[in-house]
Amino acid sequence: MQKNNKIFEQKKYIELVKELNRADLGQKTAYISTFGCQMNAHDSEILLGMLYEMGYSKAENEKEADVIIYNTCCVRENAENKVYGNLGNLKKIKEERPSVKIVLCGCMMQQDTVIEKIKESYRNVDLIFGTFNMHVFPELLHMALTSNGMIIDVWETHDEFEAEAAAIRQYKHKSSVNIMYGCNNFCSYCIVPYVRGRERSRPKTDIINEIKGLVSDGVIEIVLLGQNVNSYGNDLINGESFTGLLYEISAIKGINRIRFMTSHPKDLSDEIIYAIRDCENICNHIHLPIQSGSNRILELMNRKYSKEDYLSRIAKIKQEIPNVSITTDIIVGFPSESEEDFLETLDIIKKVGYSTAYTFLYSKRTGTPAANMCDQVPESIAKERFNRLLKLLNDGIYEINKKLVGETVSVLAEEVNEKDNSLVSGKTYSNTTVHFKGDKSLIGQILNIKITECKTFYLIGELLA
Ligand code: SAH
Ligand code: SF4
Ligand code: F3S
Repeated sequence: MQKNNKIFEQKKYIELVKELNRADLGQKTAYISTFGCQMNAHDSEILLGMLYEMGYSKAENEKEADVIIYNTCCVRENAENKVYGNLGNLKKIKEERPSVKIVLCGCMMQQDTVIEKIKESYRNVDLIFGTFNMHVFPELLHMALTSNGMIIDVWETHDEFEAEAAAIRQYKHKSSVNIMYGCNNFCSYCIVPYVRGRERSRPKTDIINEIKGLVSDGVIEIVLLGQNVNSYGNDLINGESFTGLLYEISAIKGINRIRFMTSHPKDLSDEIIYAIRDCENICNHIHLPIQSGSNRILELMNRKYSKEDYLSRIAKIKQEIPNVSITTDIIVGFPSESEEDFLETLDIIKKVGYSTAYTFLYSKRTGTPAANMCDQVPESIAKERFNRLLKLLNDGIYEINKKLVGETVSVLAEEVNEKDNSLVSGKTYSNTTVHFKGDKSLIGQILNIKITECKTFYLIGELLA
């Protein structure tokens, strides 16, 4: 009942904003920049869905938009710097068109220091909200449209509501679906648990219903999102598990591909590995962040597994799932990382054979335990290690891709290539990009593509009749 009331209240603001836009005659537009991870990107799609309901269409760029939204990230310092840089550029747009509304939301806004800095240096911002109150966006936008001055509404924690709106998807045939929010792991370097709160799993029926709706709208690939999807259901009273959820989703008619991220190595059970093995439509791809190969650093990171635990999970995965593709995240230059520790990370790369890795220079995040650790690694040393790491990784990725030359792989065609429109780009089961000759009529189809050439970060192929 309370939930219905809350939704009703927001519906009222959706109508009020629509009314304001109607009075303005011409079509109003909104532009959203996303600075963070896949969950952040999916939040942007949900915000766009809300804006759509309020009568806005999507602007092609900031210059012409009536509402400009920055959905921010604070996982590393450079993500924050990008936001400040772009905010500086908005000053000119606001001078030229004072009626434009500038909105900031997302993880960065959950930090007091950020709010103070914006209040001081970026007075042209109209509205700020955080990760816990995205669902009241229509009410806040209405307030911003009908008043002057900066509106700030950032909550310290979540209530029982999460934002719900039919997301405006980037791709017609592929969609992300949140299965849980927040994180309980408190890795010592990471800000996410502080800005996204504790783990909350969505009820299974909500997830299933959302997916069925997407399938009836033409979606054939689903990406399940959570900071640690393996712990899905731990907070629910009815004993749901991630494995159970996977089997149920897999059985929904019309889904050709299911992916999920992120898996935490400490919680990746045999049952999940068997589900990937046994369900044909679950992609044979696991994203399993290692972060570091050194047991001493893993302990300091509070990751709760050792290099040996990780490698034994990898062995099990490779044994059960033929042609599995494994990807990872790695941090270089964690406090006190020695050359020896770093060599352990290189060793794990050689042993696993990653298809892709997201690599990061350690970034000190105020408020996390690692920020207070002594012995921060000098930047020059961290960068030098980072380059060595990239070289080893890229050589390994190239070797893996090379094996595919001459093979026929199934590829979901996603879009016409931006640089060369005689090419279509798509993704293999293991999420590697493939370019091939074709046109837009192929978009959304799963095609047999013969790989003819390989590069480090993509493949080139030809469509088989
Ligand atoms: N929940 C996921 C990933 C969340 S953040 C997981 O646990 O794997 C994505 C990645 O950013 C992390 O895997 C980590 O490699 C990186 N990261 C997080 N905090 C960081 C920091 N302070 N400095 C550098 N990289 C960081
Ligand atoms: Fe951050 Fe660790 Fe949670 Fe991932 S599992 S979001 S790295 S605290
Ligand atoms: Fe994602 Fe960045 Fe937030 S990685 S959860 S947008 S801090």
